Amino acid sequence: MSKPNYREIKFPKGFLWGAATSAHQVEGNNTNNQWWAWEQEGGHISDGSVSGRACDHYHLYEQDFNLVKELGHNVHRFSIEWSRIEPKEGKWSEKEIEHYRKVVEALRERNIIPMVTLHHFTNPLWLEEKGAWLNPKTVDYFERYTRKVVETMGDLIPFYNTINEPVWVAYANYALGVHPPCHTDMNEFYIAGKHFLMAHGKSYNAIHETVKDMGFKVKPQVGIVKQMMYYDPVDPQVKEDVDEADRLDELTNRWFLDGIHSGIIRRPFGEGEELDYLRGSWDFIGVNYYTRTQVTTRLSDPKVLELMVSRVGETTDMYEVYPEGLYKQLMSVKKYGKPVYVTENGIATKDDNQRCRYILTHLKIVHQAIRDGVNLKGYIYWSLMDNFEWSFGYSMRFGLVEINYETLERKPRPSAYLYRDIIKSNKITTQQFQKYF
Ligand code: NOJ
Repeated sequence: MSKPNYREIKFPKGFLWGAATSAHQVEGNNTNNQWWAWEQEGGHISDGSVSGRACDHYHLYEQDFNLVKELGHNVHRFSIEWSRIEPKEGKWSEKEIEHYRKVVEALRERNIIPMVTLHHFTNPLWLEEKGAWLNPKTVDYFERYTRKVVETMGDLIPFYNTINEPVWVAYANYALGVHPPCHTDMNEFYIAGKHFLMAHGKSYNAIHETVKDMGFKVKPQVGIVKQMMYYDPVDPQVKEDVDEADRLDELTNRWFLDGIHSGIIRRPFGEGEELDYLRGSWDFIGVNYYTRTQVTTRLSDPKVLELMVSRVGETTDMYEVYPEGLYKQLMSVKKYGKPVYVTENGIATKDDNQRCRYILTHLKIVHQAIRDGVNLKGYIYWSLMDNFEWSFGYSMRFGLVEINYETLERKPRPSAYLYRDIIKSNKITTQQFQKYF
């Protein structure tokens, strides 16, 4: 990992600072979605856990938002659980709608800007039974759910993320087979990817239309949250490696972002169809960035393998640390001319000093990207607190705040205080860098 230079860096006035969570990972007892059902089968989660009561954020959200306030965040990203709002097809739960209104209000009362994600990995069971993202009707179901959320709480919400990491979800669920329903069919990946893209476009328009129809004063900003894996050719001098990295970037990043920009669904996801409602359907781009993937087509060559291993830098409990990839990916979205938010960036580690270093190096990169012309408006760390890391369960510790899963005690880590100090002064001082490097 490259060391940051130690000069003080300042962030733009009005920069948004926060942390993110998602419903299934923190709320507890989301019994009505496909993840819960899959967890109950046993054998799927690597540490043997199930989401269960998670951090019980469903009941403890006010306490958690007090902490968010104390830690100085001015934005908070979280998701609404579709399976709570629409437990049965077309049946809405007034009780859960009321719950989420209170959640949003609790943030606003504390002067924390709510950033709401409408879909974060989970599907209601009734939808899963209909084939979820393989079913073209899901595009309309998602639009209907979007309208319901906006009708009932849109007066309070200034930021929406339609779908979190759609291409990864399509890939993990339907091609890689690591998330439910664990299919391994590339064709299904293309179908689900296309439906996610269409659903994003419809949801974007539904939000703006509903806000207008309801006469709400708020002018919401609506964006996509895209996981931006950086594909790094093992040998940049070898054309095959470079071409393969480019192919993967097209397959998992560019076709989707270009799709929103142009309204065209490129092959193999679509047939090049042009959709008016899709074109330009974003007010900002959310970038989730964690790491790089080294790419080569020459894995059978032991020398190439050796080279790959020798290139691996600092590692964490889940990923390699590779801040340079964040710079490349932020620069890659500059061309769309939209405001950009880092909607997720974080580290799974039991070593909080490493977390501090990770935050500092990545913020240094964020600062460089701003200097180099990216219209970057905010940084959101993943995650506010330790939580259920999907198929890795509770073994991964991403939190600024440590959770004791026995007692549910919340304890901010030193990194939470470092982050608070950065937010407070809107800068990183030379001394802060020097303390960790
Ligand atoms: C991206 C996902 O949005 C989030 O749910 C997950 O916990 C983090 N990556 C860390 O893997």
